[in-house]
Parts: sequence; structure tokens; C-alpha cells
Amino acid sequence: MTTVPHVPRTEGFRALVDDLGICFGGDYNPEQWPRDVWLEDADLMVQAGVNLVTIGVFSWSRLEPSPGERDFAWLDEVLDLLHARGIAVDLASPTASPPPWLGVQHPETLPVDRDGVRLVAGSRNQFTPASRVYREHALAITTDLARRYADHPAVRMWHVGNEYGQLDFGDEAAREFRSWLRDKYGTIEALNAAWGTTVWAQGYRAFDEVLPPRRMPYLVNPAQSLDFRRYSSDQLLAVYREQRDAIRAVGATQPITTNFMEFFVHADYWAWAPEVDVIANDHYIDHSSPTAASDAALVHDLMRSLGGGRPWVLMEHAVSSVSWRPHNLPKSPAQTRLDSLQAVARGADAICFFQWRQARSGAERFHSAMLPHAGADTDVFRSVTALGADLRRLRDVADGRVEASVAVLFDWSSWWAGEEPARPTERLETLAQVQRWHRELWRRGVAVDLVRPGADLSAYRVVLVPHSYVLEPDAAASLSAAVRAGASLVVGPFSGVADANAAILPGRSPALLRDVLGVSGEEWVGLPDAPTALEIAPEWTTGRAAAAGLPTAGILGERLRAEGADVLARFAAGHLAGAPAVTRHHAGEGTAWYLGAIVSDDVLGAVLGDALEAVDVRGVVLDLPDDVEAVRRGAALFLLNHGSTERIVTAAGRWRDLLSDAPLEDAVAIGPGDAVVLTDRP
Ligand code: GLA
Repeated sequence: MTTVPHVPRTEGFRALVDDLGICFGGDYNPEQWPRDVWLEDADLMVQAGVNLVTIGVFSWSRLEPSPGERDFAWLDEVLDLLHARGIAVDLASPTASPPPWLGVQHPETLPVDRDGVRLVAGSRNQFTPASRVYREHALAITTDLARRYADHPAVRMWHVGNEYGQLDFGDEAAREFRSWLRDKYGTIEALNAAWGTTVWAQGYRAFDEVLPPRRMPYLVNPAQSLDFRRYSSDQLLAVYREQRDAIRAVGATQPITTNFMEFFVHADYWAWAPEVDVIANDHYIDHSSPTAASDAALVHDLMRSLGGGRPWVLMEHAVSSVSWRPHNLPKSPAQTRLDSLQAVARGADAICFFQWRQARSGAERFHSAMLPHAGADTDVFRSVTALGADLRRLRDVADGRVEASVAVLFDWSSWWAGEEPARPTERLETLAQVQRWHRELWRRGVAVDLVRPGADLSAYRVVLVPHSYVLEPDAAASLSAAVRAGASLVVGPFSGVADANAAILPGRSPALLRDVLGVSGEEWVGLPDAPTALEIAPEWTTGRAAAAGLPTAGILGERLRAEGADVLARFAAGHLAGAPAVTRHHAGEGTAWYLGAIVSDDVLGAVLGDALEAVDVRGVVLDLPDDVEAVRRGAALFLLNHGSTERIVTAAGRWRDLLSDAPLEDAVAIGPGDAVVLTDRP
């Protein structure tokens, strides 16, 4: 079957923002409430400045109480009511939670976990994307919903399913996995070769012998595991796509999307992104983490990058506490405001929450909401209303772009293959490394895009590869070409180790980057728990300054040999004593650095600082104080104080703060947890 590539219809979301300004609202579940509550909800939404709500995400059993029956009357009423109040609707296909009757009548629609346990109704997400019966029922209700509401004036967006992400290991999945493998490999011999099945006598005679990686006696073949992850992401995407296409097929013209989940491991969002008309993300920041602010900034940068720089939707975040962590700390209204403004700074044109009205029943009865159990006479509701007003003041920011000169390479296949068990160390975590590297740029106020391997790098002066275990020849070639054309490239350890089948690339590593890096390695070793000292070369001035403390390495190191590169730091002790740990190589018009170990923050900061300086990339504000995040979006300069004391930022020029309307000149004081959004326009 040939598939026509989807062309995202980006203009629909833009038109919505042109009409409404920055969208503000949340998930609304009217099916949980009697009619008189709907009226109160609509009035309070207007009072809070809500202009967009997502409806129907979990309404399947209400819309289809028994097989084939349809009950749309309540939804007609809700949509009409909201439209009368000027509130736009993001209407969901209700397919994330099938009614219990589906699993009773068709047990094969229920997912099966790795241990062979069939999961049942009583929670949500009890479907396998591999089930044809599930898919038929999901398509039928989605088609009828779309047919009925495609022209409803309240409906301005469609929301397919919810948070696609489950894995399924049952017989339905086995059938679809085999079919995916047949399409990919054509012959069983090709699969055997790609998976290296001569190891441990795994040779298959036919595709029908291949299974999902269910519970096994010992370690799973990493290539089988990698392909199963790819299949699982593709299978979910197929379910999303057919519902999206069903909505389009009945003539709906609104933008269609689904909600992503930050750096979610079970869905390759580079593959998903072109299939949605606007990127939407659910983001539950854990403020108990000391790195919450920079980690959140990274997620926002991913969302903006997935959409090619276009504005995106913060589809869900929490007004205060969530209810699904073991211990749930509240967020202050100031924190929620800062979180929201940070998302806008990094490209969001919609700030929405889970959920509008706090549930009385069900598993999420203690999850915070815009309208708490205690009602509108609450600090939470007043703060929500104030946030709505703040977002209205930022109307001119909408559609502005964040321009980045720095690219960070991130790839799901690498993440998957690089975290399979049985490596030199399981302590090397891809995302943790990406977060560390990104944090160095975040604290300097340097904008960053994320890019997938093989992406066009011509717009970037600095390219960072914190950890990319899998590297294919075209991706390696584009990194080398970027350096030769003048970019700074910094590559972290254990990158370029494996090919697309997770097989180790032969020869000295990283084989495909050896020329451009001017260095190569011969073994990877776990480093002892106690940090291993590094010795900084006397001529590396930034390194010496930065390492005034104790430059060290930990977790993983490589035995390197310089092949033309300058050695900036060496291992001072241990198994790798004397071997290069940090190198720099001039190639063509640019420079490439290699880190042969997980180095301490001071050393990492020094390398990244050099890489920026070499091509004259600076932060948007000089001398940015600690804890202050600075982002330029279009004509606006966002300054966000994540710290607990007032900070003064020097910003030469005459400004106006869009939030307070105050005029400012050359310096601005920002209170703890506060933000300013400066514009140089009168
Ligand atoms: C997810 C879901 C919502 C809700 C929230 C709670 O994001 O999409 O339905 O369960 O989590 O945090």
C-alpha cells in the first residue's frame, strides 16, 4: 500500500491564535457533571478568560453506551453553550478509553503485557493498537463524531485519542510486528542478518516464528528489542493517522493533533511530528528537582523544534499538584504563572491545563484543576483568572519565532539502542546527558533547537551531540560537512558506536567521525564510583580557568589516541591514566571537540563555552545573572527569574514590560519567581 505523505495544515492553528490571541483553557469533562454545572462552568470560563477547552477525551461510553448506539444530544448542548459564550473547542476522538463492553465482547482488543497478563477495563487505555476490531470501533465512533461536528462553529481543533504510548506484547501485536518486519526486511534471511541471530542460536526459519520481546529467560537480542520499539511507535502512529484521516474524510478543515508527552520513550516524535497540524504537549514539571527549570526549557525547545520552529500548544500542565506521584507537592500560583510564561517564551501559543473542573470521582479526584472542589472563591481560581489576563497582555508575542544558532542532535533509535542492558555501564543515560549539555546553554541565555540525525544543519553555527549511540553514514557525513563549512561540533562519549541495527561499527571508534574529530578509541570502560581526576593541558586556558575546582570524569571513559587533534585534558589516574579525555581538532573552516568520558560540569562548560566562542555565538543578554532565563521570541525578550532572590538584569535600551506596561531603561529588577516580557516597541 502506498501512503501519501501528510502535509501539516499549519494555517488553522495560526488562524485560531489570530482570532483569540494566546489560547488559554484546559481539558473539560462535562460528561462527569449534570447540566446545571455546565452553565456555571461556561460562566466561570468567561470570567477566567478561558477561550479554548478540550472536550470528550474520555467520553466514549457516554457517546456509545452500547455497541452501535449513539448519544450526541448532551454534546450538542455543551458545544452550543460554549459557542454562545465565545469559547472555542478542541474536540477529541474519545478513543483512548473504550467502553467496557468492547473488551467483554472482544477480549482481543485488550492489551497484553510483557508477562502475558491481559489488562482489563476499569482504568483507561485498555486497548491494543494492533487490534483490528478496536480500530474498526474507534474509526466508527470517530467518523460519526466528525461528521456531526465538522461544521460546528465552536469546533476549532481536533484532538485524536490521548497520550499515545502503550506497548503491547500479545498475539495481535505478534501478528502486526511480523507484518512490519516483513515490510522492512522482505526475507527472513535479511532479518537474521540484521539481528545477528547467529549469537545464542536465535536463527529463525520464518517470520511466523518471531515474537515480540516477551518475558525471556535472559537478556533480549538488542536488535529485536530496537525493532520492536520502532514497530510499537509506528503501530500507534498508524492508529492516530487513520482516525485523523477519518476526520478529514468527512470534510473537517480544522487543525488536527494529538498530545505528546515531553521526551516520551515509546513514541519517536520525529516520525510523529509531520503527522500533526500543530505540535501539542502534556508537561508535568517536577519542581522537586533542582534542575526543573532547565529541564522544562529543554522540553519546550523539543516541541518547538518538532514543529520546525512553529508555535505549539501546551495542551496540559498542572495548576497545582498532580495526584499520580507517590507524594504530591503543590505549585504556588507564581510558579504556575512562571511555568506558563516559560512555555510562551519558548514558542507556545496556547497554555492549557488538565483540567478545568476538579473531578469528584474517579482516580484523579485529588489532581488540581483550574476550578477546585472548593469553587471560584479560592486562591487557585483567582490566580487562574490573573494568568488569563497576563496571557491577554502577551497577544503581540503570538506567532513570534525563537531563532537558534545551536543545534542539539537527538534521536529515538539512539536512545532506545543506547539504553539496552548489557553495556559497559547502565549509568549513562541519554536524556540526562542531553539535559546537562542543554543546561549549559540555558544558563547562558543561548537559544537551542533540537535536530534529528541527517537534518539540514546549514542554519546552525554550533552542533552538539551529547550522546548518539547509533550513527548512520548520512548523519555522520552531515556533521562532518557542517564542521568543514565552519561550524563548531562537540561530540560526547559513546557516540557513533552502533549502526541502525544496533550492531557495533567495526574498527576504532567513532568510525564515522574519526576524520573530523582527529581522534579514535579502542575500548569503552566503566569508570570507578569515585571521580577520576583529569589533568588539563597548560595551553587550554578556559579549561584551566573552569577547572579551578577539580576536573574529573566518571561513569564511562574511552581509551583514545589523538590522530591530529590537540589533547586538552588527559586521565590523570586509573585504568586510562595518560590517555586523552578531551580533544579539539580543526577541520576545514570549523572545529570539532570530542569528550572521551562523562566529564564534570566545569569541564563540559569550558568545552561548550569554547565551541560557542569559536563562532561568536552569545546569549541574548550579556552577564546574565544566575537563575535568570533569557529568551528572545520575535520582538520580545523574556526574562524569567527561577531563583528565590531579586535579580537585576542589565539590558541596554528603552523597553516596555508587556506584563506590567512599565517603561524600563537599561536595567530591570525581577522579583523571585517573577518574569518580565520586554519589548522595544512603543
Ligand atoms: C495526562 C492525561 C490526562 C490526565 C493527566 C493528569 O496528561 O492526558 O487525562 O490524566 O495526565 O496529570
